[in-house]
Amino acid sequence: MKIAVLPGDGIGPEIIAEAVKVLNALGESFEMETAPVGGAGYEAKGHPLPEDTLKLAKEADAILFGAVGDWKYDTLARELRPEQAILGLRKHLSLFANLRPAICYPELTEASSLKPEIIAGLNILIVRELNGDIYFGSPKGIRTATDGLFPGAREGFDTMRYSEPEVERIAHVAFQAAQKRHKRLCSVDKSNVLETSQLWREVMTRIGQEYPDVELSHMYVDNAAMQLVKAPKAFDVVVTGNLFGDILSDEASMLTGSIGMLPSASLDKNNKGLYEPSHGSAPDIAGKGIANPLATILSAAMMLRYSLGKAEQANRIEAAVQKVLAQGYRTGDIKTAGCQLVGTKEMGEAVLKAL
Ligand code: IPM
Ligand code: MN
Repeated sequence: MKIAVLPGDGIGPEIIAEAVKVLNALGESFEMETAPVGGAGYEAKGHPLPEDTLKLAKEADAILFGAVGDWKYDTLARELRPEQAILGLRKHLSLFANLRPAICYPELTEASSLKPEIIAGLNILIVRELNGDIYFGSPKGIRTATDGLFPGAREGFDTMRYSEPEVERIAHVAFQAAQKRHKRLCSVDKSNVLETSQLWREVMTRIGQEYPDVELSHMYVDNAAMQLVKAPKAFDVVVTGNLFGDILSDEASMLTGSIGMLPSASLDKNNKGLYEPSHGSAPDIAGKGIANPLATILSAAMMLRYSLGKAEQANRIEAAVQKVLAQGYRTGDIKTAGCQLVGTKEMGEAVLKAL
């Protein structure tokens, strides 16, 4: 089994190094090949998603991805910015289903900014569509307006669009995920305003008839944002489009105390996937050895489960992470009273020992 390892920028290389150590300790014979991506891709090959990196990602069975982005690339043309690497991989590999769990570990309840009783035991899953919506819809651009309120003025425009098959395929992923959990699915849209959302809701409802065991509800995105902080445990699985999913998954991740704990999977229709922490490249703490590697280590566990057919090894890693938390190891982002503050490497070592 071949794993493409794409560390990227900022804290990416540091956290990926720990996840690779954990994978190597499992006693499996994975072939791992590393390639530059994001700002690192731009530095090495002049493009955030160099051809060789894309080729490696295509031929691998799974991709372990760190993070991309750094302020120093903000002035580059859009197509050369680090973010294009992850957007390009999602698109080129048809990774349309993004699974973003938000789990509150019992040991970290007090690391959350919400009251403990609101989030204790929280375990929700956000299923975000990743290939469509206003992220990729054409036309988009900047032009001189010929109509609207200010004809002649420069205007920016993007297009929100979803086709029925696009909504159908993410619906199936979400309903099936709900079947394996508490059988409740909340579809989030803005159908009181947007045509795209109206079609989305129609399709969700129709596909729902194929899953009578799953209870489907619908919620407007503004209300969903509110309910997520008011009563997050009322959710089981949430399915939504690319833009709403981007925003709500960041919100959901913070409920759990730290985005530094949350893995994610981006899957194609055959469960080939890209696995990355839900957080970004954190350039402010890059190179300091203090980043939390657990989200990346947990992403490696998701990779074993979803793409490599090694659920037992995934369970082992997740149990090891639980154990180090119980032992009191904490990086700065999840520090709690009386804990043992450690750096990236120490945290990785602790997981290895627990394994
Ligand atoms: C994410 C990120 C990306 C997104 C950026 C880096 C393009 O925020 O994975 O959530 O918006 O999808
Ligand atoms: Mn995001």
